[in-house]
Amino acid sequence: MMLISIILVSLWTGSSYGVNYDVYTGETAPKCLMKFYEKNNFTDNCVVDVKPCDPNEWRRVDGTCNNLKHPASGTYLAPLARIMPASFDGQEPRKALSGNPLPPERIVRINLLGEAVSSHPIFNHNVPSFGIYKFTDIGSVHDIENMLLTTTWCCEKERMNDKACTPNIVADDDPVFRYSGIRCLNSTKPLTYQDFGCTRDAVPSIIKKATATFDESQIYNLHNKGDKVIRTFENGKLAVEEEDGKWFPPNGPTAFCPNNQGPEETRCFENYANTLLPVTLYVIWFVRHHNYICDKLKEVNPCWDDDRLFYTARDINNAMSNQIYFREWYETLIGRQNLLKAGVITKDNGFRDLYDENHDPEMTTEFTHVIRWFHLMQESNAKMYDKKGNYLYDYPLLNTTFRMGFIAKNMESFTKSTWSPCHDFDNTVSFDVANRGLPGVQEALDIPAGDLNKARHFGLRSYTDYIEHFEGSKITKWEELEQFVTKANIEKLAHIFEDVRDVDLMAGLWVSKSIKGGYIPELLADILIDQWYRSVKSDRHWYERDNRPHAFTKRQLEQIRKVSVSLLICTVGDGVDEVPKKGFLRVSKKNPLVPCSKIQKIDFRAWADDKCQAKSKKRNGWRNKKN
Ligand SMILES: *[C@@H]1O[C@H](CO)[C@@H](O)[C@H](O)[C@H]1NC(C)=O
Ligand SMILES: *[C@@H]1O[C@H](CO)[C@@H](O)[C@H](O)[C@H]1NC(C)=O
Ligand SMILES: *[C@@H]1O[C@H](CO)[C@@H](O)[C@H](O)[C@H]1NC(C)=O
Repeated sequence: MMLISIILVSLWTGSSYGVNYDVYTGETAPKCLMKFYEKNNFTDNCVVDVKPCDPNEWRRVDGTCNNLKHPASGTYLAPLARIMPASFDGQEPRKALSGNPLPPERIVRINLLGEAVSSHPIFNHNVPSFGIYKFTDIGSVHDIENMLLTTTWCCEKERMNDKACTPNIVADDDPVFRYSGIRCLNSTKPLTYQDFGCTRDAVPSIIKKATATFDESQIYNLHNKGDKVIRTFENGKLAVEEEDGKWFPPNGPTAFCPNNQGPEETRCFENYANTLLPVTLYVIWFVRHHNYICDKLKEVNPCWDDDRLFYTARDINNAMSNQIYFREWYETLIGRQNLLKAGVITKDNGFRDLYDENHDPEMTTEFTHVIRWFHLMQESNAKMYDKKGNYLYDYPLLNTTFRMGFIAKNMESFTKSTWSPCHDFDNTVSFDVANRGLPGVQEALDIPAGDLNKARHFGLRSYTDYIEHFEGSKITKWEELEQFVTKANIEKLAHIFEDVRDVDLMAGLWVSKSIKGGYIPELLADILIDQWYRSVKSDRHWYERDNRPHAFTKRQLEQIRKVSVSLLICTVGDGVDEVPKKGFLRVSKKNPLVPCSKIQKIDFRAWADDKCQAKSKKRNGWRNKKN
């Protein structure tokens, strides 16, 4: 009797939950492994419980069931893919060919990138801003959290060599810090699956806490809490709160805004990022935009219930973000001809279905790393404007980090500030990005040097290895680099690296020539395009597929093709009646400010559902009208 009830109980739990998968291997976790994980309290990080997949269901927020053969492969805990095999020296970063350690990260940064104010001749600040926003979909910030909240001792003399630490050393003759006591910048080693006990593999594998697809995790599943905590369950909407007539994601008790000042600055989001200004702006805009879509869908389809509205709005919002990213942002930076040549776009704007179920959802380590290159395009200051658009003063942009209360009070100004020029790609970096990365919470921080440091611990190979992989040129001598790097910059590299084959991928990208017909290094474009292609191929819910569950109709996809970053800002920006015609470019004679009425809009009638129409036709009669 006892035995039977045990069996019954386990059967019951089996059906009410699902199947346990080992996140590292993506395979089902055998009982003995589950026992081991449970005994050691590793289950939270190493196992994902997947309810049975329904091939027709919407995209799941935790990324499971994207690939029906390997249901756990897209989950937020699954490891990143790699373009090239990792390169380590045992568990430690690779060494120079000579066997010496690679040159210290801050020294590399200082020698390659001077600190300066500069303005990109064409791009505005939405370029780095939107790039960083998209990063928060597929990258995670647990390493920064670790540094700020947990492993805080990496610059203490006795603990610098701790195995959790990899501080950035500041030389005695450092051009900025030589007159201060600062000789060390905090940095922790990236957390690995080995740290969490999920594998005994010898090669360190960095942990990832974001789904492997461009699915707007930063809106719909931040901190992996799932969409349940952000929904109102009414009319499909996300929860929002009003402050001074503006709508924001709600405050909450565990939100982290240590830089909010005084009693007025109270805004701090519970379920969304309160981090960098660019990320917060886009988070606010996409949350508002979700609710805007719900209103529009409800107008067209009064009979739709909460779930239908929520999932459809989420799908449209996500598609809009991806359309802006891949078709507007990529094209602006890489150039349309280059994208056509690479075959990631065609002249035809219809459906595209390259999905291959033999590819698990893939996000590459290289991609999540190289998009940090856009730190170079971030300026020190945001330009502040009054309500009429008159320039007032410059505000240090990074002082807004973890300070949502201040951003909320200045939305009009920060919105307009995105149209001012971003930093040029000219072998310099803005002073604050290079020295005061996280004001208020760290005394000093060199963001690009930190990026380089992390990459070495990610096991990324050298710049020349990636050149060979993508461009087919095998480079063994400095002068062979001339196709990709100017002579002056080759000299700078040769000054700090012993051999051309030692150069870090990111260091090479900092000083590379731009691709012909575009504005970023060719190798950077290669890695960006590689990821795009992988996403189209490996994401079953990719928005351009006509074969996915709840796919767009042809007419709906045509509406998605019309969207732009300027449309987003017109629809949900504060105090915006006009926008730059092309939203990633500086305002100029060729790219004037235009009234929002001139920007192409989504026609939500493309989502009209005949089942609702039968009931509501008489009442609205819209079908007979032109608009
Ligand atoms: C088990 O791990 C979780 C997080 O993974 C932690 O919050 C909890 O305190 C741990 N429990 C024990 C008994 O160590
Ligand atoms: C910006 O932050 C720094 C460091 O916290 C502070 O010293 C400075 O006064 C701040 N600037 C402004 C304009 O708030
Ligand atoms: C490094 O972190 C410690 C502990 O949080 C802090 O006291 C110190 O100022 C930090 N160092 C720098 C250069 O910011």
